[in-house]
Amino acid sequence: MKKTLAILMALVMVLGAFTFASADEVKTYKVGISIYQYTDNFMTLYRNEIADYFKTLETDTVKYELVFADAKNDMAEQTNQMNNFVTQGMDVIILNPVQTSSADVLIDIAVSNEIPLVLINREPLAYDADGNTIDEAYEGILNNPQVCYVGADARQSGTYQGELILATGNQGDINGDGKISYIMIQGDPENIDAQYRTEFSIKALTDAGKTVECLDSQVGNWDQTKGQELCANALTVHGYNVEVVFCNNDGMAMGALTAIQTAGRIVGEDIYLVGVDALPEAVEAIKLGDMTGTVLNDHIGQSHAAVDVAVKLLNGEAIDNYYWVNYVKVDKAYAEAQ
Ligand code: GAL
Repeated sequence: MKKTLAILMALVMVLGAFTFASADEVKTYKVGISIYQYTDNFMTLYRNEIADYFKTLETDTVKYELVFADAKNDMAEQTNQMNNFVTQGMDVIILNPVQTSSADVLIDIAVSNEIPLVLINREPLAYDADGNTIDEAYEGILNNPQVCYVGADARQSGTYQGELILATGNQGDINGDGKISYIMIQGDPENIDAQYRTEFSIKALTDAGKTVECLDSQVGNWDQTKGQELCANALTVHGYNVEVVFCNNDGMAMGALTAIQTAGRIVGEDIYLVGVDALPEAVEAIKLGDMTGTVLNDHIGQSHAAVDVAVKLLNGEAIDNYYWVNYVKVDKAYAEAQ
């Protein structure tokens, strides 16, 4: 009896020591993630995928403690969040900047505190003396081996939007007057995605030798309600002259679709509608013929690339300064195959 007890006690001690040792070996990394605005549809998909993907990378010995923050489209709020991340001792930061033109301030907070930084979705660009963007890599990123940007080239998404219109039966000229008359609903104008999509969607048409007429171009700030309002106004003013509605994203395109339907117009018959992102509701609309097409803004590919590089930084590995993920054109055939 005594012997059994002794064996049991020894077993308990060994097990205890074992559990204690393994608990000791678990490394938990703290990751601060600031998103420019939680109400943004696309960034919600992106942010959820960051959380889900980090979970899949956890092992018995490596854990990730994620601290998400909503910058509420407010630069001062985001600056506070960055300073809080420093105080909280984050091991790496993933940042979706509110104002790309002020990215330096945020990059400096991370760099001066030696916290690696992964910028996502809103690409900071160099500006010339007149405030125009210079199309080249950003020094604040290039000069820092622990800072990088993960994103997609918005020129590609704009070009694909134009090509979706060129692929329609009448190549966007529904009334046959020899020109494509369109309205443009833009995202946040400070954002390069909005600037490039606006420019390159039309460039694809003119490069194909088409004559274009811009009936209206307004800022909808990526917002569905604003998209609906702007499209409704333009349809009231320009009526059946509007042949194509270009929206810089699907959120605004979903709003535009409501306006189009309320005005009694029919997509594919008397008007075309394109967006960007491939939100699930937009892909559904394309299947039903309620939208002409969209462009997949690959939030899965981008979030995984961002997390993978964050993990590299945590492991002290060397990284590139830029990581690019391709857009994909989504027409009806593609949507139906989903
Ligand atoms: C774009 C996306 C928009 C919006 C924006 C935020 O890439 O297409 O829907 O999320 O980013 O900066």
